Amino acid sequence: MIQPSLKDLDRKHLVHPVVNFREHEKRGPTVLESGRGAYLRDSDGNELLDAFSGLWCVNVGYGHESIVRAAAEQMARLPYATGYFHFSSEPAIRLAARLVEVAPRSLQRVYFTLGGSDAVDSAVRYIVHYQNARGATERKQFIALDRGYHGSSATGSGLTALAAFHRYFDVPRPNQHHIPCPYPYRSPVGSDPQAIISASVAALRAKVHEIGPERVAAFFCEPVLGSGGVIVPPRGWLKAMSDTCRELGIVFVVDEVITGFGRTGPLFACEAENVEPDLMTVAKGLTAGYLPMGAVLMSEAIYETIADGATEGALIGHGQTYSGHPVSAAVALEVLRLYHEGGLLANGIAQAPRFEEGLQSLLRHPLVGDARQRGLLGALELVADKASRRRFAPALRLSERVTRTAYRNGLIFRAFGDNVLGFAPALCYGQREYELLFERLELTLDQLLADPEVRAEVV
Ligand SMILES: Cc1ncc(COP(=O)(O)O)c(C=O)c1O
Repeated sequence: MIQPSLKDLDRKHLVHPVVNFREHEKRGPTVLESGRGAYLRDSDGNELLDAFSGLWCVNVGYGHESIVRAAAEQMARLPYATGYFHFSSEPAIRLAARLVEVAPRSLQRVYFTLGGSDAVDSAVRYIVHYQNARGATERKQFIALDRGYHGSSATGSGLTALAAFHRYFDVPRPNQHHIPCPYPYRSPVGSDPQAIISASVAALRAKVHEIGPERVAAFFCEPVLGSGGVIVPPRGWLKAMSDTCRELGIVFVVDEVITGFGRTGPLFACEAENVEPDLMTVAKGLTAGYLPMGAVLMSEAIYETIADGATEGALIGHGQTYSGHPVSAAVALEVLRLYHEGGLLANGIAQAPRFEEGLQSLLRHPLVGDARQRGLLGALELVADKASRRRFAPALRLSERVTRTAYRNGLIFRAFGDNVLGFAPALCYGQREYELLFERLELTLDQLLADPEVRAEVV
């Protein structure tokens, strides 16, 4: 009997995240087999430079033996410990304490999740609980940004403002609202940073006023919008939004699932602007993707209100079997050690100018309308007409063409629907990797431009 191939089994049985199911059945998967440093190998033997750190998570690069050892040792000693019924484990305790040490000062308490979506979901649950506990029972409305991404849970997907996550999923819910995002390249108020910041502040105020100032629970945002197309707000924007939330008396939540752990330079993007949020969600770089884990960090004030709001002895009914998983926590502790003592954070900061220079130099390419970046989070926005900033017609399916071409050139990054190419190189990238990245990227753009259907649209 002929055994079905791995790819056939995938087509037949494995449901993939965020794909068109029918298209995936036709196309089949790209099966990845191994990784080392910044490089991946697929099951057809292709060597690829990963310029997206997996899914902006493998910030330390692949194949760190010390992480594998930390996981294996913890797995042998104690592969599981619940956090329920007052049980705990050393790695979870040490990790919570370490995170509080390195996070913005306002954040003193840590609840561990399995990833980013349930970190956002947990944040929402705690906020609702907090508002009820302090007697603000009318505060049930949530505000987030257009093009923001806050995961894929039944609640978080409604804070997310990307069409694919809403269609047929019956979100956003009536208590989930969005305001325009600070998108310098396409801002209706022009490119002046202060004007962009003022527009966001005004939009948040107007939305709160429209909903009713006593009805708003919280505002969620990413310091740099990732999945919405690597949209980089002007410096000072995060601080301005934080100050406005404080003034309006609404909970300020920073979603650092992508921007955390050195992605934008400092360990957290909040640090760069001295922002002290009420809640912060993290995941991805926390374990560098080696195992699943996320967290919600919360202020002492929120924790205390929830704690004091509970009827004596009543349980705060929020939990997950794998909250504070000891093996994930052991991995995260080692990953944090690599960022600091291992020099990766410093290397990421040192290499960021090279990354920026490479992206900026591609602005001269006929296809590139915008190049933007913060730290090692960057994007090129491709346009059909540089003067008018017109996008390519969706029927051209430019994102798929560019992904295919890049893959043939041995390069992986993410092409978003709006013709934005997103890059998130690992913090371990050295000179050689940046040379390769930009060589292969320029070749890819040249080949794309040589495609007669693409060329026909370019002005
Ligand atoms: C800002 C942000 N929040 C939340 C999430 C959801 O995280 P996860 O995919 O781990 O559930 C993501 C994932 O990309 C994200 O970028």
